[in-house]
Amino acid sequence: MTAKRKGAEYAKIRTLRLPTGRPIPVLGQGTWRMGEDPAKRQSEIDALRLGLDLGMTLIDTAEMYGDGAAEELIGEAIAGRRAEVFLVSKVYPHNATRRGAVEACERSLRRLVTDYLDLYLLHWRGAVPLAETLEAFQLLKQAGKIRDYGVSNFDTDDMEEAFSLPGGEEIVTNQVLYNLVHRGIERDLLPWCRGRGLPIMAYSPIGHSASEQRKMFDRSQLKLIARRHHATPAQVALAWLLQRDVIAIPKASNPEHVRENRGALDLILAKKDLEELDQAFPVPCKKVPLEVK
Ligand SMILES: NC(=O)c1ccc[n+]([C@@H]2O[C@H](COP(=O)([O-])OP(=O)(O)OC[C@H]3O[C@@H](n4cnc5c(N)ncnc54)[C@H](OP(=O)(O)O)[C@@H]3O)[C@@H](O)[C@H]2O)c1
Repeated sequence: MTAKRKGAEYAKIRTLRLPTGRPIPVLGQGTWRMGEDPAKRQSEIDALRLGLDLGMTLIDTAEMYGDGAAEELIGEAIAGRRAEVFLVSKVYPHNATRRGAVEACERSLRRLVTDYLDLYLLHWRGAVPLAETLEAFQLLKQAGKIRDYGVSNFDTDDMEEAFSLPGGEEIVTNQVLYNLVHRGIERDLLPWCRGRGLPIMAYSPIGHSASEQRKMFDRSQLKLIARRHHATPAQVALAWLLQRDVIAIPKASNPEHVRENRGALDLILAKKDLEELDQAFPVPCKKVPLEVK
């Protein structure tokens, strides 16, 4: 399906359903490390706008990124286009008290120049009791400041605890480290979330650093599969996630990377490709604690 904007054609991308019934795009744009270098500001804004034009309308950020600078940059990038965007931000654990989370959310909204977030996540578990954070999330939802809420970096036992608390059953997603090299969540967290209809958001889907990317891209099987499909290893890594109904949020400030990432949606991996990837990047044989970045 295509839609027109300022004469340009862009494709609407596939969505998944959150447990509340709201659609969420399967492929979005991360923003960690954006907004930190004034010299890169315009190119980062341009990259995000290009991503929007290509249909990658989910933008993931956090109050932590650049101490609010990433949110400010996004506010500029989405000016006049807020309705197109599925906006996700995260609260620091130390701000996630009943009052602190409400205030942190309001600061994020001001930086993003919007009056609501599509999704608000607890960035990781800290010392503040979860019950308090959930209470704040409910207040924000009732006030229309957030549409849905969720968590990040929660392992299965954290999810079980959260779901046992008032408001816990309204958690719609868990954003975690998940890519070909880090497949630990397949042992129990991923099935646990799937069993409750919660789509997982995969962060660092193509490895966040040069060394992490080498662990993935240097594997000969990945290169072979990419060649077979006239694709890049990054596209294969993203297509692999997208084919398992996981939401992927690659960060790209290089426009070629943005286009490449969008192209991953058109790449269909065959059974043989998937089997080869399983061999090259095996799932750990037993439960491992959730890995984090
Ligand atoms: N919840 C959490 O705790 C958490 C933790 C980490 C990340 N996140 C979120 O997830 C997003 C993505 O994770 P990430 O930034 O860690 O890692 P990532 O998206 O896997 O990797 C980003 C790196 O990959 C490069 N890149 C992008 N597209 C590429 C392509 N097609 N081919 C080769 N290289 C490519 C980027 O370069 P250029 O920028 O030069 O294009 C950047 O250096 C973050 O930005 C953030 O929004 C959340």
